[in-house]
Amino acid sequence: MKILMVCLGNICRSPLAEGIFRQQVKLRGLDWEVDSAGTGSWHTGETPDPRSLQVARRQGLDISDQRARQIRPADLVHFDYIFAMDRSNQRHILELARDEDQRSRVHLFLDFAGSETGLDVPDPYWNDNGFTEVYHMLDQASHHIIDRILDQSVSLAADQDLSDATQ
Ligand code: 4NP
Repeated sequence: MKILMVCLGNICRSPLAEGIFRQQVKLRGLDWEVDSAGTGSWHTGETPDPRSLQVARRQGLDISDQRARQIRPADLVHFDYIFAMDRSNQRHILELARDEDQRSRVHLFLDFAGSETGLDVPDPYWNDNGFTEVYHMLDQASHHIIDRILDQSVSLAADQDLSDATQ
């Protein structure tokens, strides 16, 4: 499975989402690819924001090897699931989608985790105190997202078995 986390700058929210998700996937023994990107290009090549690095480090997570990059059209072909941190990010990603298959890969992160629909992961860039809240929000939601992807792949495999059996 290939997963891409997307926010605006790829320095605050999506690097945390990538690090948290990657750690949870590994703990479950799953061999999934996890990456992140921003819809904007201002921070390309930069390490995550020092406040994201710090909140992650406090939870025992090192995300300092990540470098920001901008999302590109090929990402909508490569990744199975693309998670937007907020609705504005989601709109910008969908502008890159060329067909229904690509559109169907794009989800709002908290929606997919089963929260009330239409909720954004708040952008903490302008708010020093927002980082801890965002960390816990991402951590909790990631468990639900992994469960849901696993459920979907089990039911897809079952559908495939059924169609193989009837051919
Ligand atoms: P992020 O936060 O999208 O969570 O990485 C931001 C980072 C940079 C800016 C805005 C939000 N900026 O305006 O440069």
